[in-house]
Amino acid sequence: MLAFGTRPEAIKMCPLVRELKSRPYEFEVVVCATGQHREMLDQVLSTFGVVPDHDLHVMKAGQTLFDITSDVLLKIKGVLEEERPDAVLVHGDTTTSFAAALAAFYLHIPVGHVEAGLRTRNLASPWPEEFNRQAVDVVSRWYFAPTETSRQNLLDEAKPARRVFVTGNTGIDALRHTVREDYTHPELDWASDSRLILITAHRRENLGVPMHRMFRAIRRVMEERPDTKAIYPIHMNPQVRRAAHEELDGFDRLRIIDPLEVVDFHNFMARSYIILTDSGGIQEEAPSLGKPVLVMRDTTERPEGVAAGTLRLVGTEEGSIYREFSRLLDDPAEYEAMSHASNPYGDGRASARIAGILIQEMRY
Ligand code: UD1
Ligand code: UDP
Repeated sequence: MLAFGTRPEAIKMCPLVRELKSRPYEFEVVVCATGQHREMLDQVLSTFGVVPDHDLHVMKAGQTLFDITSDVLLKIKGVLEEERPDAVLVHGDTTTSFAAALAAFYLHIPVGHVEAGLRTRNLASPWPEEFNRQAVDVVSRWYFAPTETSRQNLLDEAKPARRVFVTGNTGIDALRHTVREDYTHPELDWASDSRLILITAHRRENLGVPMHRMFRAIRRVMEERPDTKAIYPIHMNPQVRRAAHEELDGFDRLRIIDPLEVVDFHNFMARSYIILTDSGGIQEEAPSLGKPVLVMRDTTERPEGVAAGTLRLVGTEEGSIYREFSRLLDDPAEYEAMSHASNPYGDGRASARIAGILIQEMRY
């Protein structure tokens, strides 16, 4: 059983669902969507043509961590008891993943953690994700680490080396098929006379004051540079939307649009000049595309992208974002240095590797 519930989990688990389903003599695949996200999850499921066997429908407006954790835990219990899977696969660091892994643990069902071993070692950042991924790793039997660094993080915590596998990140599997030379979109046509800035933001620890500071800095920099236009496919969280509209409305070179389907978003990334984000997944995708990313966070669990030169941590202070964003726009050498494509998160074959490992490991 694969259990997931948010947009990024779906983007990284659907390639694995498809891979496992392509081997019907080896796997019987059950998909349990928790519905922690609704519209943003459904968008991805329809893109990949994945229809969940179970949907827990947990999302509600203004949901708290208590709501998500308790709803997933209580609702997935019946599904696990009905299906009795031989293994439950969860992904990354969301509250869906934590609660689903905990439920499997309570029922003595082995857990496989896809995208295991990412760490900041700071429970406050990202919050609550650093706790979630460490907790999932406590109860996991198999660890599918995307990189050698994440493998080492797990070994440093005395996880058994024979259960830790470096597979690459399944998110890169999708990227191989989405970006196209001949892709067009009306919003890209609008921005084609300018340097395109792509923006996303949603982290819980950035809600409120930090998010206002981020938006103010972006607007100030862009107001001073008339050759820039920005597209901001905004997260559906009403708190994010409120802050963005308060700070960014009335500036006609910045367009706030609804979340893009993943195929569109990848092509927008490929056409952008600079990406500003607090997202995790975008930090993994951007190095393959050679797109400079200013990461509006104080920590990152993706040091490989920083080492590759594509990512720069700029914090959430208005001054630091203003300074680093201006510098990257004004200094061609700086821009050039951050624009080289590299592949620290794998070759796009992570799902096939995970399938192969599961066949070996689950043999009776
Ligand atoms: C969640 C994950 C985070 C991940 C992010 C990806 C947790 C605690 N957080 O954060 O790790 O990086 O997803 O985007 O697991 N909403 C909708 N429709 C949707 C999705 C969200 O209306 O399709 C609104 C709802 O009002 C919801 C709110 O957004 O209450 C927040 O969603 P939630 O999943 O709680 O938090 P995210 O910030 O999305
Ligand atoms: N993404 C998307 N549409 C958008 C914005 C992002 O499909 O409008 C994709 C992006 O390519 C990446 C993932 O969503 O694969 C990142 O999701 P998000 O930032 O919500 O979560 P995080 O990765 O921070 O957990």
